[in-house]
Amino acid sequence: MALTLGKALVTGGAGFIGSHIAEALVAQGCEVTVLDNLSSGRLANLDVIRERIAFVEGDIEDPEVLSSSARGCDTVFHQAAVVSVPQTIHQPVTSAAVNDLGTIKVLEAARQNGVRRVVLASSSAVYGDVPQLPKTEAMAPAPLSPYAIQKLTNEFYAELYHRMYDLQTVCLRYFNVYGPRQDPSSPYSGVISIFMRKALENQQPIIYGDGRQTRDFVFVKDVVQANILAATHESVSGRVYNIGTSNSVEINALWHSIAALAGCGLSPEHADARPGDIVHSLASIQRAKEQLGFQPVHDFSEGLQKTFEWYCRHAWKE
Ligand code: NAD
Ligand code: UD1
Repeated sequence: MALTLGKALVTGGAGFIGSHIAEALVAQGCEVTVLDNLSSGRLANLDVIRERIAFVEGDIEDPEVLSSSARGCDTVFHQAAVVSVPQTIHQPVTSAAVNDLGTIKVLEAARQNGVRRVVLASSSAVYGDVPQLPKTEAMAPAPLSPYAIQKLTNEFYAELYHRMYDLQTVCLRYFNVYGPRQDPSSPYSGVISIFMRKALENQQPIIYGDGRQTRDFVFVKDVVQANILAATHESVSGRVYNIGTSNSVEINALWHSIAALAGCGLSPEHADARPGDIVHSLASIQRAKEQLGFQPVHDFSEGLQKTFEWYCRHAWKE
């Protein structure tokens, strides 16, 4: 039997993925609170649902704001984080305050306020460069960056809260998520958003390393589907699931596809590979298919086209 979503809190709900989750929840008739400190998110991401949600500008590091936001909620979708791998390398302490301690505070606020289930955004980064592909949840993690350690720590705490405190938790190891609203404005941004912007502004992109590294890019609407399934399926508490597509794309080929969409003839500049960068990333989604009924429905060229159209319509304002 499927659980109902009830009232929900989305931490990081003004961000890229969180705003799509909030929008889907509103469409399903949920009462939604978004808690976001707007450090990388934007209120404009919530334009379509702004009048139908409660928005709290606040920090997950603040237990009081967390507690008042979680009160009365059945489900928490925890998306707030420092999301960039290199940013956590440059800022290991401040990123841990958000990603490690902030997540424990979210779990604790959920426990103290009688929340039924917390769905947490984890990452494929936890696998590091484990040589076997595709990556399955049964593999031992091998984190290569503070970010990956922080996400793995989140998973351990989530399992602990499930086992010790009777709070239902589900962790989703997103692979590389892309789609409308991904912020391209920082060097820490996701590669598809950066390449889209460069191609549209006819600027040369930078490819780190030889560009032969690969990523499993998953469209944001498929990640939303995974979150809803993780929130509503019985008997999945305490588990982790890969959320990707089981297909991968080389970074060099990615630039060619985006440049072709934009009619941009520029060749990329190459720079040194980033420290902590994973070479190959490819998801097995067998477990999510079998246990959650997850099935990504957007193939890469369709998702890339939709994303491109969005960037064409929304010249990014800093
Ligand atoms: P994003 O930067 O667009 O969203 C993160 C949101 O969290 C932003 O709105 C930001 O303002 C907010 N935030 C950050 N610190 C906060 C704090 N201390 N208190 C309150 N709000 C805070 O990034 P995203 O891509 O939407 O990522 C969402 C989640 O998914 C993150 O947990 C990220 O680690 C995870 N994830 C993302 C990807 C990806 O490819 N984008 C892949 C794997 C995992
Ligand atoms: C991304 C996410 C991270 C998530 C992980 C899951 C972001 C910012 N990061 O990390 O939150 O947990 O996926 O797999 O969303 N690259 C270039 N040129 C650029 C930018 C990037 O060549 O201008 C390369 C990078 O070196 C890397 C690849 O593109 O090899 C992807 O980089 P990026 O989009 O930053 O994602 P990840 O580091 O994989």
